[in-house]
Amino acid sequence: MVVLGIETSCDDTAAALVDGDRRILANLVLAQLAEHRPYGGVVPEIAARSHLDHLDSLIARAMAETGLDFADLDGIAATAGPGLIGGVFVGVMTGKAIAAARRLPFLAVNHLEGHALSVRLTDDVAFPYLLLLVSGGHCQLLIVEGIGCYHRLATTIDDAIGECFDKAAKMMGLGYPGGPALEAAARGGDAGRFDLPRPMLGRESLDFSFSGLKTAVRHRIADLAPDRLTAGSPVVRDLAASFQAAVADVLADRCTRALAVFQAHCGRTGPLVVAGGVAANQTLRARLAAVAAECGTVLVAPPPALCTDNAAMIAWAGIERLRLGLSDPLDFAPRPRWPLGEVRGPAPA
Ligand code: KG4
Ligand code: ZN
Repeated sequence: MVVLGIETSCDDTAAALVDGDRRILANLVLAQLAEHRPYGGVVPEIAARSHLDHLDSLIARAMAETGLDFADLDGIAATAGPGLIGGVFVGVMTGKAIAAARRLPFLAVNHLEGHALSVRLTDDVAFPYLLLLVSGGHCQLLIVEGIGCYHRLATTIDDAIGECFDKAAKMMGLGYPGGPALEAAARGGDAGRFDLPRPMLGRESLDFSFSGLKTAVRHRIADLAPDRLTAGSPVVRDLAASFQAAVADVLADRCTRALAVFQAHCGRTGPLVVAGGVAANQTLRARLAAVAAECGTVLVAPPPALCTDNAAMIAWAGIERLRLGLSDPLDFAPRPRWPLGEVRGPAPA
């Protein structure tokens, strides 16, 4: 089985071909960094136009790389939400057009489901598992019980974690995109130099909060003389390292508690899986691996290139759905908001 995946929900135009034996035959990502950089963040209208300009040729390149013809495909999977709706429309319309022309099944894939299942593509992890989903728009803990069976334990009560990384990086003058820049800036920094808050630490509820941490970074920066705040300066390095340490402490605390909830819910331990763009962060991965080991389990994380947005995860989610006999009608309406709890699974046996 071979499925074409299409991803256009934010600022990456992506096309991939994946087969049922978990082989990634082609995986192309065209980041729009240069187009958005002057604005310090993603501009939805620019993103949608850029997807429109590049998606067709990217798909053609992916097909050419594999030597496959559309006639060799078993389905077309496109991100149908959640995300920036202009871009989602471009991907969905393109996917539907190929599916209609070639009489192939169309799969409207939830972007979060793509992240949630990516670890089954890379590591063949069995259900159930505890998922920490950390991206630009989300920060959630879920028990993944099966396709379309996502039991949410926690979410953020304010900012998403990637958003917090991006804003903190911007305040530190590290530019866009913030997450990878902040990680690079933190290398060799003194994580103990700045005392930053650990929101929600020790709370019974599993939810997250990041706005207080963001505000604290703003205050620490306001206390500094502006000339000390240049990229590469020791003060930025230490502030970035202190920020990462605060985030790591929060995630470690939440995941330790969530693993106990998972055990009570499932009657056994299960692997801790981390996915989404922020899961590319090596400091956070190392900390989560330690948490998993302390709790008698393992951390499983896709390689960094499959943590950030890509179409291989969308193709794979399509394969998983197709195998269960699931597909979507060509009048499926893209959804700017689409919580994982509303993703349809197979009919109960
Ligand atoms: O999953 P993703 O590529 O797109 C969304 O679905 O949102 O996640 C993007 C987010 C951005 O906020 C980006 O700054 C963050 O992931 N990110 C990172 C790293 N790489 C990407 N955050 C921290 N460390 C990284 N290495
Ligand atoms: Zn994503």
